[in-house]
Amino acid sequence: MTMRADALVLFGATGDLAKKKLFPALYHMERRGELGVDVIGVASTRWDRAQFLANAESAIRTNVSDVDETVLAKLLDELSLVVGNYEDPQVYRDLATALEGKAGAVFYLAIPPSLFEQVTSGLAAVGCTRNARVVVEKPFGRDLESAKHLQESLERILPEEQIFRIDHYLGKESVEDILVFRFANTLFEPVWNRNYIKSVQITMAESFGVEGRGAFYDSVGATRDVLQNHLLQVLSLLAMEPPADLSDGPLQDEKQKVLRAVRTLDPEDVVRGQYVGYLDEPGVATASQTETFVAATMFVDNWRWADVPFYLRTGKHLAQTSLEAIVEFRQPPRQLFGDDGAPTPGPNLLRFRMGKDDGVDIELLAKAPGYDLSPVPVRLTVEFSSALGVRKEAYERLLAAAIDGDHFRFTRIDSVLESWRILGNVLNGEARVLPYFQGSWGPEQADEMVPGGWVAL
Ligand code: BG6
Repeated sequence: MTMRADALVLFGATGDLAKKKLFPALYHMERRGELGVDVIGVASTRWDRAQFLANAESAIRTNVSDVDETVLAKLLDELSLVVGNYEDPQVYRDLATALEGKAGAVFYLAIPPSLFEQVTSGLAAVGCTRNARVVVEKPFGRDLESAKHLQESLERILPEEQIFRIDHYLGKESVEDILVFRFANTLFEPVWNRNYIKSVQITMAESFGVEGRGAFYDSVGATRDVLQNHLLQVLSLLAMEPPADLSDGPLQDEKQKVLRAVRTLDPEDVVRGQYVGYLDEPGVATASQTETFVAATMFVDNWRWADVPFYLRTGKHLAQTSLEAIVEFRQPPRQLFGDDGAPTPGPNLLRFRMGKDDGVDIELLAKAPGYDLSPVPVRLTVEFSSALGVRKEAYERLLAAAIDGDHFRFTRIDSVLESWRILGNVLNGEARVLPYFQGSWGPEQADEMVPGGWVAL
């Protein structure tokens, strides 16, 4: 059995991710009595412990409503900080001292990927990688070559089973629901193929901009920030074959298999956009060509999905914040209903709503009241929060999984490399970046990609 880790070390503990996601997640784990490990922050910012605790406390108070003071006090008491430059061997010696007596730690690298190699080497040099789990944030690399290089450099120090690659969408309960929905119900599987499904649309839209992360975002862009990881993971859950069982291997095998069938993207099938005002964001290069919006038409070249378009889009400063996958079914072979001049009844739609207020909707046609047999759209809706109660946040589940040594919710290297292969022809940024207004749905050209337009969210 996999051993539970007995310490959690957060590199980048004074950074943005720690503030927005990790400290609130730790608080929730503590509240449920599920943390059970000491937490050591590591940072190059020269803070003392009091500053560190004040930052953690304010992060928790900002992100959590109804803070339980006893829980907060207990968590803060368990936090300590090691400060130092990541290039300096001393920081790793100090960390090793702080970890004395521990059997195995999780090292969470919430730091730029360019530092991964240096930090893991530093940890190895002081013997900290024995029994360790190293968690790395996405994107894993910048393209296929750099991802391979990064993997090689990590593998020299750590075997694959000690590496945990984060894609926090895999920690979202609403994203995992795709698996349960597809494989726990018999209703949909018989129609889950090219004979009945006309297209699939996946949208991750945000109504806000880069929010102070301009410098980081400008070096990444929407394709690397979201399409390569979050959206392709959602696609793989929607399109994969059923795994033989739910252990880690079979699931990862099926995901890899379906990604391998995804056709390498043609630049013609991609629209890149940039919101008006992006160039004024702090940290963004003058005349930057980085995309803050990307839309792509993808094909899964296998028997189940041949010729079914998968439309994917993501962007900042769009009309609303949503995360949805919409499966559009084909129309019946003959239209019995709707007289001349009456509007054509719409297709059946299945919506996985995976953002805030998540749930599932099925859009069907029913008979309109009256003498005629006129179909009108109706919607069957499940709101997960009212139907199922409170569920955990993604980072809470991922931190717990890393502490338990469970790879199920992390990405395996072969799938990561496959997703870079799919995007290989569109990463050079040569395709023109088209301007779009804030609050819109991106450049007009993205609307034209989908015959009949994107389904309204
Ligand atoms: C992150 C991206 O991975 O996901 C951010 O780097 C994005 O740019 C965020 O805002 C969205 O996450 P969520 O969970 O709010 O959909």
